Amino acid sequence: MRFFSKKAQINKLSTPCLLLPVFSKGDQASVTETFNHAHNQQVAHILQQGDASGKAGNTLMLQMPSGQKTKRVLLVGFGEQGKTSAEDFNKAISASVNALKSLPIKTFVSAFLSVDVIDKDNDWKVRHIVLKTREALYQYTETLTSSAPDASALEQCQLLVTDDSTVKSIDDAVSTATSIANGIDSTKKLSDLPGNICTPTYLADTAVALGKKHSNLTVTVLDEADMDKLGMGSLLSVSRGSREPAKLITMEHKGGPKSQKPIVIVGKGLTFDAGGISIKSSSGMDEMKYDMCGGASVFGVMQMCSELNLPINVVGVVPSSENLPDGNANKPGDIVTSMAGLTIEILNTDAEGRLILCDALTYSSKFKPDVVIDIATLTGACIVALGKHATGLLGNNDQLANELLGAGIKAGDKAWQLPLWDEYRPQLKSNFADLANIGGPAGGTITAACFLSRFTDDYKWAHLDIAGTAWKSGADKGATGRPVHMLSQFILDRC
Ligand code: BES
Ligand code: MN
Ligand code: ZN
Repeated sequence: MRFFSKKAQINKLSTPCLLLPVFSKGDQASVTETFNHAHNQQVAHILQQGDASGKAGNTLMLQMPSGQKTKRVLLVGFGEQGKTSAEDFNKAISASVNALKSLPIKTFVSAFLSVDVIDKDNDWKVRHIVLKTREALYQYTETLTSSAPDASALEQCQLLVTDDSTVKSIDDAVSTATSIANGIDSTKKLSDLPGNICTPTYLADTAVALGKKHSNLTVTVLDEADMDKLGMGSLLSVSRGSREPAKLITMEHKGGPKSQKPIVIVGKGLTFDAGGISIKSSSGMDEMKYDMCGGASVFGVMQMCSELNLPINVVGVVPSSENLPDGNANKPGDIVTSMAGLTIEILNTDAEGRLILCDALTYSSKFKPDVVIDIATLTGACIVALGKHATGLLGNNDQLANELLGAGIKAGDKAWQLPLWDEYRPQLKSNFADLANIGGPAGGTITAACFLSRFTDDYKWAHLDIAGTAWKSGADKGATGRPVHMLSQFILDRC
């Protein structure tokens, strides 16, 4: 699906379908008025009859009389004129794509840029038209034998512009949004793959392929022997229980000056989490293939940076392993030594994410980072605390935390900060090691971050717990691609 700006008059469009905004109250948009006048007050009549309500997300398809250049018109509601919220706008986009996607048409013209959205500019509107459209058209096909069961014929969306000065900025916004959407799609695709295909080795190969595609992306893969030399006893203890060898994947986007300290993003790439010896219950265990969503989001963000050739240095680090029960697996009570030298008592082998992340976080110091952000499906407790809407955010630097919160709001991919106070630290006390890998049932998301914070003293750091936001369960089970948009916005804000 491609998006273009199109400068044209609303009455002279030769298109299989025109998407026209309508409001439930107040004046109609001037494009809609113009169209209405040229077509014998037809739109006004339909609104009067109540067939189109103008409510956000309401749609009505009109067939135009044969012989007309505009074959169809889709009336799409955006709520009350002047009161369209970001949510209303997004709802209208998704609803209109759903109304179009099974039609035998390849192109359409959207007049939605003429809708005013509270507190949002044109760039925002273009961004969300692209992202919401791509989201509505996304299809997982990797392991289906019929290549795309409900594939849509849609190929092109033309964004109607009535003002010369905006064409260039719309084209720029389209290109940025398209690369973010590409990153999100790649993240979803990797995340949705099953654990028997998407192994640590598969992720490593995917990174190498991405590096070959983009000349500004350097990829390095460490195998278990390399990690052993670096003393990553914590990470390697997790993969000992698996027949799939662990990998530590690094992707470096060098778009900024050499002297510029990079943003480092570290994503948990646990390709299947059975819990290990502290085995999980079997109901819904299939969803633990999603325990690599943090890692997958790093892939998506790195792809976005490369595609846009962003003038900034960004490093992606993905520690990848499985967590399975085995004769060689970690046992409760085992003590391992991390790369940082701290010993860890593994009281629950299911708290494995922090065990692979701590070594990856220590490793990240080598890039002399400006900031380090880790992304992980780390705790079920985060779903209890924040549900499926907000990503959990914790860290050791409030300015960085605020930057991420702001990027999340702009992107509509929001996070909520939890406290990381010293008061929580005693919960990780162990009688036999420097720290335990669990802190009891109270404040599970916080004590997990508390554990990670013991390895991040060298730099400004933020932790994103995406256990609730990275995928949806139930009938529309699937990855969401979060928080690729938030992180992309964070990086773009720094360019
Ligand atoms: N990958 C899980 C966290 C998770 C659970 C994400 C459910 C999404 C849905 C993580 O490795 C884990 O098992 N965490 C444990 C930690 C506990 C043993 C302290 C948890 O949350 O139960
Ligand atoms: Mn686990
Ligand atoms: Zn896990």
